[in-house]
Amino acid sequence: MGNTFVGLSVSFSLSIGMSFIPAGIVTFISKERENNAKHQQIVSGMSILAYWSSNYVLDWLKFLVPGILCPIISNGLGASMLTNGDKYTALWELFMFYGLSIIPTTYLMAYMFKEHTRAQTATFFINFGVGFIGSLAITILQIFPNTDVIAQVFSWPMRIIPTFAISYGFLNLSSSTLFDSSNYSKTAGDILFLWITALLSTVVLLSFELFKVTKVRSCQAKVPSKPEPLDDDVEEEMQKVDIAHEDYGIKIKGLRKVYHLGKKKYKVAVDKLSLGIKNGECFTLLGVSGAGKTTAFKIMTGELPPTEGEVSVQGYSVTDKYGEARRYIGYCP
Ligand SMILES: Nc1ncnc2c1ncn2[C@@H]1O[C@H](COP(=O)(O)OP(=O)(O)O)[C@@H](O)[C@H]1O
Ligand SMILES: [Mg+2]
Repeated sequence: MGNTFVGLSVSFSLSIGMSFIPAGIVTFISKERENNAKHQQIVSGMSILAYWSSNYVLDWLKFLVPGILCPIISNGLGASMLTNGDKYTALWELFMFYGLSIIPTTYLMAYMFKEHTRAQTATFFINFGVGFIGSLAITILQIFPNTDVIAQVFSWPMRIIPTFAISYGFLNLSSSTLFDSSNYSKTAGDILFLWITALLSTVVLLSFELFKVTKVRSCQAKVPSKPEPLDDDVEEEMQKVDIAHEDYGIKIKGLRKVYHLGKKKYKVAVDKLSLGIKNGECFTLLGVSGAGKTTAFKIMTGELPPTEGEVSVQGYSVTDKYGEARRYIGYCP
């Protein structure tokens, strides 16, 4: 019995520790999105694949420190409930596959947050709540004969969350002699799910990111353009861009951006912007604060999709041919 409690308490400590890992991962990802460092790297020519794989490798190396130390220390401390015989192999697999799956799933989770501080706190609590407390709750339900079935059924979909799978795996390993005579095979489901989430989340992340590069147009906001009279030179530029076959380095045609501020509230930031800038020409965009300069630049560099209109750089549309267009862009926000 004493052994069992050592096993369970080591499992708890390991699960709590593992809930901190995604909080560390999510911080950098959301911070780089928040302060535009990611977009800056993409505009400067870094490929999406290089961005994510370098992050993945770095996060994996950082994970390896606790990922290797934890099973070794558990063994050293004599937590035989987790390390006896083939349980030790299972323990190692739980750690390694947890690393492989928590990294991409956390990258996906980062999409949910705008601020890195909130991302860090929320990620920790989600992982701690679902992973640690969830696995504990399921284990307790398993003890009683009439709730055992519920626990069994619920444990499967919850394994999609890696922190749940690893915590539940620890508990399964350490409690096996408490309830029945299972061993490695009892954790096989947890390990398998870690594998599946590792693979699935990587595929989802990459397809999401790769499709986003050729940006989809933001949905048309239902805000009609005000029929304001245009200055002569504005009208002239508009027509020039419309009909001219000249080689413009940058061509903006009827650009419009409407921000959605919430419940039926919209802000027209840029409207009817048309201009052509020839190669070799130096152009300054001036305007009062709030005129829409930054928004126009964000659209021109592919950070935001336009609501209406076209922007092309050396003939490549930033919405449809961003991969080519960005090769001609240098951006210092
Ligand atoms: N992300 C956003 N969401 C909602 N409104 C925005 C956003 N960014 C800018 N705006 C609004 O759009 C208008 C144009 O902003 P901006 O492009 O930053 O102008 P400028 O750079 O010329 O000062 C401003 O009224 C601003 O408040
Ligand atoms: Mg600005």
